[in-house]
Amino acid sequence: MGYAQIYKSWQDDPEGFWLSAAGGIDWVTKPSRALDASRAPLYEWFTDATVNTCWNAVDRHVIAGRGKQPAIIHDSPVTGTKHVITYAELQDRVSRLAGALKAKGIEKGDRVIIYMPMVPEALEAMLACGRIGAIHSVVFGGFAAHELAVRIDDCTPKAIIAASCGIEPSRVVHYKPLLDAAIEQATHKPDFCVIFQREQEVAKLTPGRDVAWHEFQFGVTPADCTPVEGNHPAYILYTSGTTGAPKGVVRPTAGHLVALNWTMRAIYNVGAGDVFWAASDVGWVVGHSYICYAPLIAGCTTVVYEGKPVGTPDAAAFWRVIGEHKVKTFFTAPTALRAIKREDPEGKLVPPLPGLQALYLAGERADPDTIHWAGKHLNVPVIDHWWQTETGYAIAANPLGIEHLPVKIGSPSVAMPGYDVQVLDEGGHAVSPGTLGAIAIKLPLPPGTLPTLWNAEDRFLKSYLTHFPGYYETGDAGYVDADGYLYIMARTDDVINVAGHRLSTGAMEEVLASHKDVAECAVIGVADDLKGQSPLGFLCLNKGSNRPHDEVVRECVKLVRDQIGPVADFKRAVVVDRLPKTRSGKILRGTMVKIADGQPWKMPATIDDPAILDEITTALQSLGLAKA
Ligand code: COA
Ligand code: AMP
Repeated sequence: MGYAQIYKSWQDDPEGFWLSAAGGIDWVTKPSRALDASRAPLYEWFTDATVNTCWNAVDRHVIAGRGKQPAIIHDSPVTGTKHVITYAELQDRVSRLAGALKAKGIEKGDRVIIYMPMVPEALEAMLACGRIGAIHSVVFGGFAAHELAVRIDDCTPKAIIAASCGIEPSRVVHYKPLLDAAIEQATHKPDFCVIFQREQEVAKLTPGRDVAWHEFQFGVTPADCTPVEGNHPAYILYTSGTTGAPKGVVRPTAGHLVALNWTMRAIYNVGAGDVFWAASDVGWVVGHSYICYAPLIAGCTTVVYEGKPVGTPDAAAFWRVIGEHKVKTFFTAPTALRAIKREDPEGKLVPPLPGLQALYLAGERADPDTIHWAGKHLNVPVIDHWWQTETGYAIAANPLGIEHLPVKIGSPSVAMPGYDVQVLDEGGHAVSPGTLGAIAIKLPLPPGTLPTLWNAEDRFLKSYLTHFPGYYETGDAGYVDADGYLYIMARTDDVINVAGHRLSTGAMEEVLASHKDVAECAVIGVADDLKGQSPLGFLCLNKGSNRPHDEVVRECVKLVRDQIGPVADFKRAVVVDRLPKTRSGKILRGTMVKIADGQPWKMPATIDDPAILDEITTALQSLGLAKA
């Protein structure tokens, strides 16, 4: 069957479609039905089933005779090491870690924060939690202590599993002092922390609270898999929203298993024994779904790469990994390819890669230049696909395992089964093809997508389900063409996308506003050739502040780095007298973005004082922006 028939088969019988997909999963108790609409518009899937994630990702492959197959290849140019872990070894390592967690009192439903770099132990920690029904929450290593503290207070973990350090090309990231500071700042305190000591930096343990990874597991009884209900949360992953408080996206166990397993064949065209590589980080949703869970659920070999696209050691690093480990399907963010293209515009460092089947891009809009460059030099289909932390897998894609649809550059192609994607006007009416609008998905969302936000059902309803009743609001704007191809153009909220990282300008504004000299501020995302967008702050200083502007700017840049983390990449700010606002006091961020990017813009009818835009233009020009 082709894409159109499969999509129609889902439309005609969603229940049958997902029950059939559920056949790819080993159940303890099989689901008798797929959708549970008893609390609509809050939907859940496979609620009467019981299942275990770790069993499906690890144990079943060993039983099926693939124990000797590599499950994880750790390739770490930043430490100069490579290491293979087979499925049998993974089962052993994960069941021992799970046994140790259990022995220390971690039970089904308890939360465990994981704060680790790109090491296999991060995946093992995730799987060990799943094995005993604990709910993990992985925190990205590029966040500062404050962000970790916010997450500790929100999900109140009984334990934290962390590494002693991470390694960025230019520096060692000292995880342990960040962890200690976060626990100090947080109101909630974990019972204990497990520290994975790395050779590059052995951290000092806090007596009575911290225990070293190996010692923790010494002599324990390995744990078996605990069956959990289909709607039991597998994990919580925090993502940026409009305000400084991150949203705790909840991932339900059974839907996650069913949907991810389905995507591996249908979208990525891979199966057991294939090598799959997503060059992302376990701290992001791509890392959860396509470094850890989906490849393992499907019995593939997953590559855990601890390095960068460039500089570790050069712009050929990705191609070396693909060739050396025989990667069949590769997934990365456009920004990584732009970084490579900038250093190797002619593609001279790209060798023939006969085993590579396709390249998948996501995380931000894939620009045509990048797609052309990659297609020309890799000589494989380049598949842009669109998704979000909230969904956990692609909403729109070109499903290579079903049918390689004609590619339209600039579009992540078509809606996947499970997703009825509509473009709506402000009144919630579907617009005609080619017309820009808010992108919404008709409820229910498919299995595996977020059923709610952790401890914040009202926020979930308000953020996603209220604006367009009967729909999930994606927060993206765009249009659909006459062939049903989607075009994702911009966010409708204050979220920006910097190097494929989703960041909240609202969160940065909260930090800037806390500076003693700042009376008012605004942060916008301006176009950036490499990173897609780059944050830029406007600061209005308190009356009477006569401090040198460059000093305040420097302090503000440091403040955002210290509070949110280096990942915010907040390096530029400018002092202005006033911010442009509507008469009702709303800051005109959209207009400032257009001016900064040198795009055509119209004077907003509701503007309070048009002259302010001249001042803003001058300030932007002083930074080399706002070129006509
Ligand atoms: N731990 C600690 N710090 C981290 C980090 C981590 N895991 N990841 C990034 N950082 C730091 C970087 O060291 C950098 O710090 P600096 O300001 O001291 O230089 C800062 O955060 C910004 O990082 P980044 O935006 O990644 O910029 P970069 O210049 O280091 O690298 C790219 C640019 C394009 C090579 C890089 O962003 C990249 O590979 N992007 C792909 C992202 C991706 O895969 N996203 C997943 C979505 S699918
Ligand atoms: P995240 O939750 O970090 O995965 O970020 C999700 C957001 O990234 C989406 O809402 C989009 O704004 C953007 N995004 C992800 N993939 C794409 C894509 N293929 N094309 C355009 N935007 C994308």
